[in-house]
Amino acid sequence: MLCAGLGVQGMMWATSPACTELETHVLDWLVDMLGLPEAFSSRSTGGGVIQDSASSATLCALLAARERTTALHSDRHGCRGNLTAFASEQAHSSVEKAVRVAGLGRDNLRRIETDSSFAMRPDLLERAIERDLRDGKDPCFVCATLGTTSSLAFDDLRAIGAICGRYSLWLHVDAALAGAAFLCPELRPFQEGLELAQSYCFNPHKWLLTNFDCDCFYVQQREPLLQALSILPEYLRNKASESGEVFDYRDWQIPLGRRFRALKLWFVLRSYGIQGLQRHIRDHVALARELASWIDASTELEILAPARLNLVCFAHRNGDSFSRRLLEDLNRSGELYLTHTVLGDRFALRFCVGQTFTERRHVQSAFEHILKAARRLEADGPC
Ligand SMILES: Cc1ncc(COP(=O)(O)O)c(C=O)c1O
Repeated sequence: MLCAGLGVQGMMWATSPACTELETHVLDWLVDMLGLPEAFSSRSTGGGVIQDSASSATLCALLAARERTTALHSDRHGCRGNLTAFASEQAHSSVEKAVRVAGLGRDNLRRIETDSSFAMRPDLLERAIERDLRDGKDPCFVCATLGTTSSLAFDDLRAIGAICGRYSLWLHVDAALAGAAFLCPELRPFQEGLELAQSYCFNPHKWLLTNFDCDCFYVQQREPLLQALSILPEYLRNKASESGEVFDYRDWQIPLGRRFRALKLWFVLRSYGIQGLQRHIRDHVALARELASWIDASTELEILAPARLNLVCFAHRNGDSFSRRLLEDLNRSGELYLTHTVLGDRFALRFCVGQTFTERRHVQSAFEHILKAARRLEADGPC
């Protein structure tokens, strides 16, 4: 039975009950471990499911929101170019992909400006919703981010959730990387207001020691998701499904067949335990904050965004073209590899502490290497 579940048989409860039950169980554990709202647990109106990626979770959330909105108008003809979706200009590109795949049309995604900490401006979100309503559009979906890809900025869920509530919009929260941090109670203030969201996702494969791929996707209400994604052809009919007592996870995702991803997550949770996982997160956050303090204290480098968790965004004080040269030099050295982004109008280098075995001495030697390279380039003069 277990072997069948490891392959493509996990499509419904009847073909692999153990796989389904374990997935539900592990996702309920995470509700408790992460301090998520109780409505996200299977004990309540909602529940969790493992998707391959955050992109798939966002797409499923948008499909549920789309179906909910069109059903309100008894419209079964799909999108007619009227539905609109909202996300900050710092939201991940997967939101735009979801909007395109779901057929809303890319022009119907409103990218909302961010504030100085790169978080969505709720006042501008509300203004954009109002504008759409005046123009006869049908706003249906907002994606807020906890921990944006570029700089780990946190959108204000309380303010955004209140707006979504006022206009009956579906609020999806993407915490792909940062979600793992909420194992630590002291970091949970970042997720305040999550109870106002209809759906939520985070990726244990990013920062929770779990092999790729694994995204935990939660909904507060199962019904809208099932209405969007469940189809019951004759060949899938069975007594368990018809009893209404079991979860058929094929109805919580786009494909029919599915992998048994819960097992690896179960092993991670059981082998590290809550305290082991908390230590892993706390160590990385402490290392990143220490690195940020060294950068802040240096005369050559400056911090470009608040370093709240495990990501440090910085630049050289000599400006963008110098920072670009520094990045190229560092990455060519083979000693470390940094990615980059643009924050506001500044070119930023990104240092992420996420590797399982990273210790203080590694971060310290990376910092020394960065400083040495910056000083050498400065001595070389303009290129
Ligand atoms: C905030 C955020 N959302 C979504 C994604 C996309 O994740 P996935 O590769 O799981 O689709 C990322 C990836 O970096 C991300 O940082």
